[in-house]
Amino acid sequence: MTLSGRHVLLGVSGGIASYKTCMLARRFIEAGAAVDVVMTASAAQFVRPTTFEALIGRPVLTSLWERDRALAHISLSREPGLVVVAPATANLLARVAQGIADDLLTALLLARTGPVLVAPAMNDMMFAHPATGRNLELVENRGWSIIGPESGPLAEGSSDLPGRMSEPDAIFVAAERLLRQADSRLAGRRVLVTAGPTRELLDPIRVITNRSSGRMGFALARAAYARGADVTLIAGPTALAPPIGPDVMRVESTADLAEAVGNALPETDVLLMAAAPADYRPAAPESTKRRRSDGAIAVELHPSVDVLETTRSRRKGGSIAVGFAYETEHGIARARAKLERKGLDLVVLNLDEEGSGAEVETNRVTLVSADAAQELPLLPKSDAAERILDAVERLL
Ligand code: CTP
Repeated sequence: MTLSGRHVLLGVSGGIASYKTCMLARRFIEAGAAVDVVMTASAAQFVRPTTFEALIGRPVLTSLWERDRALAHISLSREPGLVVVAPATANLLARVAQGIADDLLTALLLARTGPVLVAPAMNDMMFAHPATGRNLELVENRGWSIIGPESGPLAEGSSDLPGRMSEPDAIFVAAERLLRQADSRLAGRRVLVTAGPTRELLDPIRVITNRSSGRMGFALARAAYARGADVTLIAGPTALAPPIGPDVMRVESTADLAEAVGNALPETDVLLMAAAPADYRPAAPESTKRRRSDGAIAVELHPSVDVLETTRSRRKGGSIAVGFAYETEHGIARARAKLERKGLDLVVLNLDEEGSGAEVETNRVTLVSADAAQELPLLPKSDAAERILDAVERLL
Protein backbone atom coordinates (compact mmCIF):
# COMPACT_ATOMS: atom_id res chain seq x y z
CA MET A 1 0.00 0.00 0.00
CA THR A 2 2.53 2.58 -1.19
CA LEU A 3 -0.03 5.41 -1.27
CA SER A 4 -1.87 4.87 2.00
CA GLY A 5 -2.68 8.18 3.64
CA ARG A 6 -2.41 9.99 0.27
CA HIS A 7 -5.27 11.79 -1.44
CA VAL A 8 -5.57 11.94 -5.23
CA LEU A 9 -8.11 13.89 -7.23
CA LEU A 10 -8.82 12.51 -10.68
CA GLY A 11 -10.17 15.09 -13.12
CA VAL A 12 -11.88 13.48 -16.10
CA SER A 13 -12.74 15.45 -19.24
CA GLY A 14 -14.79 14.28 -22.19
CA GLY A 15 -12.76 11.89 -24.31
CA ILE A 16 -13.22 8.23 -25.15
CA ALA A 17 -9.98 7.51 -23.22
CA SER A 18 -12.00 8.15 -20.03
CA TYR A 19 -12.82 4.42 -19.98
CA LYS A 20 -9.14 3.85 -19.19
CA THR A 21 -9.35 6.32 -16.31
CA CYS A 22 -11.58 3.77 -14.55
CA MET A 23 -8.59 1.41 -14.47
CA LEU A 24 -6.41 4.25 -13.22
CA ALA A 25 -8.85 5.00 -10.37
CA ARG A 26 -8.67 1.37 -9.40
CA ARG A 27 -4.85 1.39 -9.36
CA PHE A 28 -4.89 4.31 -6.90
CA ILE A 29 -7.43 2.56 -4.67
CA GLU A 30 -5.37 -0.66 -4.70
CA ALA A 31 -2.30 1.35 -3.67
CA GLY A 32 -4.22 2.63 -0.63
CA ALA A 33 -4.94 6.21 -1.76
CA ALA A 34 -8.18 8.05 -1.10
CA VAL A 35 -9.56 9.08 -4.50
CA ASP A 36 -11.99 11.82 -5.49
CA VAL A 37 -13.28 12.05 -9.04
CA VAL A 38 -14.47 15.25 -10.70
CA MET A 39 -15.99 14.88 -14.17
CA THR A 40 -16.88 17.46 -16.78
CA ALA A 41 -20.37 17.29 -18.32
CA SER A 42 -18.95 15.77 -21.51
CA ALA A 43 -16.94 13.16 -19.59
CA ALA A 44 -20.25 11.99 -18.08
CA GLN A 45 -21.43 11.31 -21.67
CA PHE A 46 -18.69 8.71 -22.05
CA VAL A 47 -18.57 7.05 -18.62
CA ARG A 48 -21.34 7.28 -16.06
CA PRO A 49 -20.39 8.77 -12.69
CA THR A 50 -21.80 5.59 -11.09
CA THR A 51 -18.92 3.60 -12.59
CA PHE A 52 -16.35 5.74 -10.78
CA GLU A 53 -18.49 5.82 -7.61
CA ALA A 54 -18.44 2.03 -7.46
CA LEU A 55 -14.66 2.03 -7.91
CA ILE A 56 -13.73 4.77 -5.42
CA GLY A 57 -16.53 4.33 -2.87
CA ARG A 58 -17.38 8.06 -2.81
CA PRO A 59 -19.77 10.38 -4.64
CA VAL A 60 -18.42 11.74 -7.92
CA LEU A 61 -18.65 15.51 -8.35
CA THR A 62 -19.71 17.01 -11.64
CA SER A 63 -21.14 20.45 -10.88
CA LEU A 64 -20.28 23.72 -9.16
CA TRP A 65 -23.90 23.96 -8.06
CA GLU A 66 -24.35 21.11 -5.61
CA ARG A 67 -25.92 22.80 -2.53
CA ASP A 68 -24.34 20.57 0.11
CA ARG A 69 -20.85 21.07 -1.41
CA ALA A 70 -20.68 24.87 -1.65
CA LEU A 71 -17.05 25.94 -2.23
CA ALA A 72 -16.15 22.35 -3.17
CA HIS A 73 -13.89 23.76 -5.90
CA ILE A 74 -11.74 25.46 -3.24
CA SER A 75 -11.45 22.51 -0.84
CA LEU A 76 -10.85 20.14 -3.75
CA SER A 77 -8.11 22.39 -5.10
CA ARG A 78 -6.26 22.40 -1.77
CA GLU A 79 -6.68 19.01 -0.12
CA PRO A 80 -5.35 16.42 -2.61
CA GLY A 81 -1.62 15.72 -2.69
CA LEU A 82 -1.95 15.40 -6.47
CA VAL A 83 -4.51 16.29 -9.13
CA VAL A 84 -4.37 14.03 -12.19
CA VAL A 85 -6.28 15.14 -15.28
CA ALA A 86 -6.87 12.07 -17.45
CA PRO A 87 -7.90 12.37 -20.16
CA ALA A 88 -7.19 16.04 -20.77
CA THR A 89 -8.96 16.90 -24.02
CA ALA A 90 -7.89 19.69 -26.39
CA ASN A 91 -10.84 21.74 -25.13
CA LEU A 92 -9.98 21.21 -21.45
CA LEU A 93 -6.36 22.22 -22.12
CA ALA A 94 -7.52 25.36 -23.96
CA ARG A 95 -9.80 26.34 -21.09
CA VAL A 96 -7.22 25.84 -18.33
CA ALA A 97 -4.46 27.49 -20.36
CA GLN A 98 -6.62 30.63 -20.59
CA GLY A 99 -7.74 30.51 -16.96
CA ILE A 100 -11.39 29.84 -17.80
CA ALA A 101 -13.27 28.44 -14.80
CA ASP A 102 -16.74 27.62 -16.08
CA ASP A 103 -17.24 24.23 -14.45
CA LEU A 104 -16.09 22.43 -11.32
CA LEU A 105 -12.96 20.86 -12.84
CA THR A 106 -11.61 24.04 -14.46
CA ALA A 107 -12.52 26.12 -11.37
CA LEU A 108 -10.58 23.83 -9.03
CA LEU A 109 -7.65 23.78 -11.46
CA LEU A 110 -7.59 27.59 -11.49
CA ALA A 111 -7.44 27.64 -7.69
CA ARG A 112 -4.84 24.84 -7.53
CA THR A 113 -1.32 25.67 -6.38
CA GLY A 114 -0.06 22.10 -5.66
CA PRO A 115 1.17 19.51 -8.19
CA VAL A 116 -0.92 18.60 -11.24
CA LEU A 117 -0.30 15.78 -13.72
CA VAL A 118 -1.95 16.08 -17.12
CA ALA A 119 -2.50 13.16 -19.55
CA PRO A 120 -3.61 14.65 -22.89
CA ALA A 121 -5.77 12.55 -25.23
CA MET A 122 -7.29 13.65 -28.50
CA ASN A 123 -7.36 13.11 -32.25
CA ASP A 124 -3.80 13.26 -33.67
CA MET A 125 -4.60 16.31 -35.85
CA MET A 126 -6.05 18.16 -32.86
CA PHE A 127 -2.88 17.41 -30.92
CA ALA A 128 -0.69 18.55 -33.85
CA HIS A 129 -2.55 21.89 -34.09
CA PRO A 130 -0.36 24.80 -32.99
CA ALA A 131 -3.11 26.04 -30.65
CA THR A 132 -2.94 22.81 -28.65
CA GLY A 133 0.87 22.93 -28.63
CA ARG A 134 0.79 26.44 -27.20
CA ASN A 135 -1.80 25.56 -24.58
CA LEU A 136 0.24 22.61 -23.45
CA GLU A 137 3.36 24.75 -23.27
CA LEU A 138 1.49 27.31 -21.15
CA VAL A 139 0.40 24.77 -18.56
CA GLU A 140 3.82 23.09 -18.56
CA ASN A 141 5.52 26.43 -17.91
CA ARG A 142 3.27 26.85 -14.88
CA GLY A 143 4.91 23.78 -13.39
CA TRP A 144 2.35 21.11 -14.28
CA SER A 145 3.69 17.71 -15.35
CA ILE A 146 2.63 16.24 -18.68
CA ILE A 147 2.55 12.55 -19.60
CA GLY A 148 2.04 11.43 -23.21
CA PRO A 149 0.20 11.38 -25.49
CA GLU A 150 1.43 8.30 -27.35
CA SER A 151 1.05 7.24 -30.95
CA GLY A 152 -1.00 4.14 -31.78
CA PRO A 153 -4.64 3.17 -32.15
CA LEU A 154 -7.17 6.02 -31.80
CA ALA A 155 -10.98 5.74 -31.83
CA GLU A 156 -10.95 6.76 -35.49
CA GLY A 157 -8.10 4.44 -36.58
CA SER A 158 -4.39 3.98 -36.03
CA SER A 159 -1.91 6.84 -36.27
CA ASP A 160 1.85 7.28 -36.21
CA LEU A 161 1.33 10.68 -34.62
CA PRO A 162 0.74 11.25 -30.92
CA GLY A 163 -2.81 11.62 -29.62
CA ARG A 164 -3.62 8.47 -27.70
CA MET A 165 -3.66 8.77 -23.89
CA SER A 166 -0.80 7.07 -22.04
CA GLU A 167 -1.72 3.73 -20.48
CA PRO A 168 -3.10 3.74 -16.92
CA ASP A 169 0.02 1.92 -15.64
CA ALA A 170 2.31 4.63 -16.98
CA ILE A 171 0.11 7.42 -15.57
CA PHE A 172 0.04 5.64 -12.22
CA VAL A 173 3.85 5.36 -12.13
CA ALA A 174 4.28 9.07 -12.93
CA ALA A 175 1.65 10.02 -10.33
CA GLU A 176 3.14 7.84 -7.61
CA ARG A 177 6.55 9.41 -8.21
CA LEU A 178 5.12 12.94 -7.95
CA LEU A 179 3.39 12.02 -4.69
CA ARG A 180 6.26 10.18 -3.03
CA GLN A 181 9.36 12.10 -4.08
CA ALA A 182 8.55 15.02 -1.78
CA ASP A 183 9.38 13.02 1.32
CA SER A 184 12.07 10.64 0.10
CA ARG A 185 15.81 11.01 0.56
CA LEU A 186 16.22 9.07 -2.66
CA ALA A 187 14.60 11.83 -4.73
CA GLY A 188 17.06 13.12 -7.30
CA ARG A 189 19.73 10.54 -6.33
CA ARG A 190 21.27 8.21 -8.87
CA VAL A 191 20.41 4.63 -8.04
CA LEU A 192 21.99 1.71 -9.90
CA VAL A 193 20.19 -1.63 -9.58
CA THR A 194 21.46 -4.92 -10.99
CA ALA A 195 19.03 -7.81 -11.41
CA GLY A 196 18.65 -11.34 -12.68
CA PRO A 197 21.19 -14.00 -13.52
CA THR A 198 24.06 -13.76 -15.94
CA ARG A 199 25.03 -16.59 -18.23
CA GLU A 200 28.29 -18.01 -19.48
CA LEU A 201 28.67 -19.81 -22.78
CA LEU A 202 29.63 -23.46 -22.72
CA ASP A 203 29.40 -23.57 -26.51
CA PRO A 204 27.44 -21.35 -28.94
CA ILE A 205 24.17 -23.05 -27.92
CA ARG A 206 24.49 -23.92 -24.23
CA VAL A 207 24.97 -21.79 -21.17
CA ILE A 208 25.69 -22.02 -17.45
CA THR A 209 23.33 -19.90 -15.40
CA ASN A 210 21.26 -19.97 -12.19
CA ARG A 211 17.64 -19.79 -11.03
CA SER A 212 17.48 -16.05 -10.36
CA SER A 213 14.30 -14.54 -11.88
CA GLY A 214 15.28 -10.89 -11.48
CA ARG A 215 12.07 -10.13 -9.53
CA MET A 216 13.79 -8.68 -6.46
CA GLY A 217 15.97 -6.33 -8.52
CA PHE A 218 13.06 -5.26 -10.74
CA ALA A 219 10.97 -4.55 -7.63
CA LEU A 220 13.81 -2.44 -6.20
CA ALA A 221 14.17 -0.47 -9.44
CA ARG A 222 10.42 0.20 -9.51
CA ALA A 223 10.33 1.26 -5.85
CA ALA A 224 13.38 3.54 -6.14
CA TYR A 225 11.84 5.21 -9.20
CA ALA A 226 8.58 5.72 -7.29
CA ARG A 227 10.59 7.54 -4.60
CA GLY A 228 11.92 9.99 -7.17
CA ALA A 229 15.36 8.48 -7.80
CA ASP A 230 17.07 8.57 -11.16
CA VAL A 231 17.25 4.80 -11.72
CA THR A 232 19.36 2.66 -14.03
CA LEU A 233 18.56 -1.05 -14.09
CA ILE A 234 21.20 -3.42 -15.45
CA ALA A 235 19.51 -6.74 -16.08
CA GLY A 236 20.76 -10.14 -17.11
CA PRO A 237 18.57 -12.44 -19.20
CA THR A 238 15.10 -12.58 -17.60
CA ALA A 239 11.58 -12.99 -18.95
CA LEU A 240 10.23 -10.09 -16.88
CA ALA A 241 8.70 -7.04 -18.54
CA PRO A 242 10.91 -3.99 -18.00
CA PRO A 243 9.64 -1.60 -15.32
CA ILE A 244 8.16 1.73 -16.43
CA GLY A 245 10.48 4.62 -15.56
CA PRO A 246 14.03 3.31 -15.03
CA ASP A 247 16.60 3.23 -17.86
CA VAL A 248 17.13 -0.43 -18.64
CA MET A 249 20.40 -1.96 -19.90
CA ARG A 250 20.74 -5.63 -20.80
CA VAL A 251 23.85 -7.74 -20.17
CA GLU A 252 24.72 -11.36 -20.77
CA SER A 253 27.85 -12.53 -18.92
CA THR A 254 29.34 -11.65 -15.52
CA ALA A 255 32.18 -9.84 -17.32
CA ASP A 256 29.58 -7.70 -19.21
CA LEU A 257 27.90 -6.94 -15.90
CA ALA A 258 31.20 -5.94 -14.29
CA GLU A 259 31.93 -3.59 -17.18
CA ALA A 260 28.46 -1.98 -17.12
CA VAL A 261 28.54 -1.52 -13.34
CA GLY A 262 32.08 -0.11 -13.49
CA ASN A 263 31.06 2.48 -16.11
CA ALA A 264 28.05 3.67 -14.11
CA LEU A 265 29.69 3.73 -10.66
CA PRO A 266 31.38 7.15 -10.66
CA GLU A 267 27.90 8.73 -10.91
CA THR A 268 26.07 6.33 -8.60
CA ASP A 269 24.80 7.39 -5.16
CA VAL A 270 23.23 4.04 -4.28
CA LEU A 271 24.26 0.66 -5.70
CA LEU A 272 21.77 -2.17 -5.16
CA MET A 273 23.51 -5.31 -6.35
CA ALA A 274 20.57 -7.73 -6.53
CA ALA A 275 21.92 -9.62 -9.56
CA ALA A 276 22.98 -13.23 -9.17
CA PRO A 277 26.03 -13.33 -11.43
CA ALA A 278 27.02 -16.76 -12.70
CA ASP A 279 29.82 -17.61 -10.29
CA TYR A 280 31.65 -19.88 -12.70
CA ARG A 281 32.55 -19.72 -16.35
CA PRO A 282 33.89 -22.48 -18.57
CA ALA A 283 37.67 -22.09 -18.82
CA ALA A 284 37.57 -22.75 -22.56
CA PRO A 285 34.15 -22.38 -24.21
CA GLU A 286 33.85 -24.38 -27.44
CA SER A 287 33.47 -22.36 -30.62
CA THR A 288 31.24 -25.01 -32.20
CA LYS A 289 28.39 -27.03 -30.75
CA ARG A 290 29.44 -30.02 -28.64
CA ARG A 291 27.90 -33.27 -29.89
CA ARG A 292 26.04 -35.43 -27.42
CA SER A 293 27.09 -38.41 -29.49
CA ASP A 294 30.70 -37.68 -28.40
CA GLY A 295 29.73 -39.02 -24.95
CA ALA A 296 30.43 -37.73 -21.44
CA ILE A 297 32.38 -34.51 -21.01
CA ALA A 298 34.21 -32.85 -18.14
CA VAL A 299 34.18 -29.06 -18.17
CA GLU A 300 36.71 -27.02 -16.27
CA LEU A 301 35.02 -24.07 -14.59
CA HIS A 302 36.82 -21.02 -13.30
CA PRO A 303 35.33 -18.57 -10.80
CA SER A 304 34.03 -15.47 -12.54
CA VAL A 305 35.09 -11.95 -11.60
CA ASP A 306 33.58 -10.63 -8.34
CA VAL A 307 31.76 -7.54 -9.57
CA LEU A 308 31.36 -5.85 -6.18
CA GLU A 309 34.93 -6.50 -5.10
CA THR A 310 36.64 -5.47 -8.34
CA THR A 311 34.61 -2.29 -8.75
CA ARG A 312 34.90 -1.26 -5.09
CA SER A 313 37.56 1.42 -5.65
CA ARG A 314 35.44 3.16 -8.34
CA ARG A 315 32.51 3.94 -6.01
CA LYS A 316 31.70 7.59 -5.43
CA GLY A 317 32.67 8.94 -1.98
CA GLY A 318 29.71 8.89 0.41
CA SER A 319 27.75 6.47 -1.76
CA ILE A 320 25.88 3.48 -0.35
CA ALA A 321 26.45 -0.08 -1.58
CA VAL A 322 24.08 -2.94 -0.83
CA GLY A 323 24.81 -6.61 -1.56
CA PHE A 324 22.45 -9.58 -1.59
CA ALA A 325 23.35 -13.02 -0.31
CA TYR A 326 21.53 -16.32 -0.57
CA GLU A 327 22.82 -18.70 2.07
CA THR A 328 21.86 -22.17 3.22
CA GLU A 329 23.79 -22.05 6.54
CA HIS A 330 25.69 -19.65 8.85
CA GLY A 331 23.69 -16.83 7.22
CA ILE A 332 24.49 -13.83 9.37
CA ALA A 333 28.17 -14.65 9.85
CA ARG A 334 28.63 -15.15 6.10
CA ALA A 335 26.68 -12.01 5.29
CA ARG A 336 28.99 -10.03 7.63
CA ALA A 337 32.06 -11.54 5.96
CA LYS A 338 30.71 -10.41 2.57
CA LEU A 339 29.94 -6.96 3.97
CA GLU A 340 33.59 -6.66 4.96
CA ARG A 341 35.18 -8.25 1.89
CA LYS A 342 33.04 -6.39 -0.67
CA GLY A 343 33.04 -3.06 1.19
CA LEU A 344 29.25 -2.89 1.67
CA ASP A 345 26.97 -0.86 3.94
CA LEU A 346 24.26 -3.49 4.03
CA VAL A 347 23.75 -7.10 3.01
CA VAL A 348 20.24 -8.35 2.31
CA LEU A 349 20.36 -11.94 3.48
CA ASN A 350 17.97 -14.35 1.84
CA LEU A 351 17.17 -17.46 3.80
CA ASP A 352 16.87 -20.76 2.05
CA GLU A 353 13.30 -21.68 2.93
CA GLU A 354 9.91 -22.35 1.35
CA GLY A 355 8.37 -19.25 -0.27
CA SER A 356 11.60 -17.26 -0.22
CA GLY A 357 14.35 -16.72 -2.78
CA ALA A 358 14.67 -17.51 -6.48
CA GLU A 359 11.64 -18.01 -8.77
CA VAL A 360 8.97 -17.02 -6.20
CA GLU A 361 7.02 -13.80 -5.59
CA THR A 362 7.86 -13.56 -1.88
CA ASN A 363 11.00 -13.18 0.19
CA ARG A 364 11.99 -13.40 3.83
CA VAL A 365 15.13 -11.39 4.31
CA THR A 366 17.35 -10.14 7.10
CA LEU A 367 19.04 -6.77 6.72
CA VAL A 368 22.59 -7.25 7.96
CA SER A 369 24.85 -4.29 8.69
CA ALA A 370 28.16 -4.19 10.60
CA ASP A 371 26.43 -3.92 13.96
CA ALA A 372 22.80 -4.99 13.49
CA ALA A 373 20.61 -7.67 11.89
CA GLN A 374 16.98 -6.77 11.26
CA GLU A 375 14.75 -9.75 10.41
CA LEU A 376 11.77 -8.98 8.15
CA PRO A 377 8.70 -11.22 7.85
CA LEU A 378 7.80 -13.14 4.65
CA LEU A 379 6.74 -10.36 2.25
CA PRO A 380 5.86 -9.94 -1.42
CA LYS A 381 9.08 -8.82 -3.16
CA SER A 382 7.53 -5.40 -3.85
CA ASP A 383 7.06 -4.87 -0.08
CA ALA A 384 10.50 -6.25 0.73
CA ALA A 385 11.91 -3.73 -1.78
CA GLU A 386 10.18 -0.87 0.08
CA ARG A 387 11.63 -2.04 3.41
CA ILE A 388 15.12 -2.34 1.92
CA LEU A 389 14.85 1.20 0.55
CA ASP A 390 13.68 2.45 3.96
CA ALA A 391 16.94 1.05 5.35
CA VAL A 392 18.93 2.68 2.53
CA GLU A 393 17.27 6.04 3.24
CA ARG A 394 18.29 5.72 6.91
CA LEU A 395 21.89 5.12 5.77
CA LEU A 396 21.76 8.21 3.53
N1 CTP B 1 28.38 -10.76 -6.60
C1 CTP B 1 29.24 -10.09 -7.41
N2 CTP B 1 30.03 -10.77 -8.32
C2 CTP B 1 29.98 -12.11 -8.38
C3 CTP B 1 29.12 -12.83 -7.52
C4 CTP B 1 28.33 -12.13 -6.63
O1 CTP B 1 29.31 -8.87 -7.34
N3 CTP B 1 30.74 -12.76 -9.25
C5 CTP B 1 27.54 -10.01 -5.68
C6 CTP B 1 26.08 -10.38 -5.77
O2 CTP B 1 25.38 -9.58 -6.70
C7 CTP B 1 25.58 -10.13 -4.35
C8 CTP B 1 26.81 -10.38 -3.50
O3 CTP B 1 27.93 -10.29 -4.37
O4 CTP B 1 25.16 -8.81 -4.16
C9 CTP B 1 26.84 -11.68 -2.80
O5 CTP B 1 26.68 -12.72 -3.73
P1 CTP B 1 27.05 -14.22 -3.39
O6 CTP B 1 26.82 -15.08 -4.59
O7 CTP B 1 26.41 -14.60 -2.10
O8 CTP B 1 28.61 -14.01 -3.12
P2 CTP B 1 29.89 -14.74 -3.60
O9 CTP B 1 30.97 -13.73 -3.57
O10 CTP B 1 29.67 -15.45 -4.89
O11 CTP B 1 30.15 -15.75 -2.41
P3 CTP B 1 29.93 -17.34 -2.23
O12 CTP B 1 31.27 -17.85 -2.00
O13 CTP B 1 29.02 -17.45 -1.05
O14 CTP B 1 29.30 -17.86 -3.50
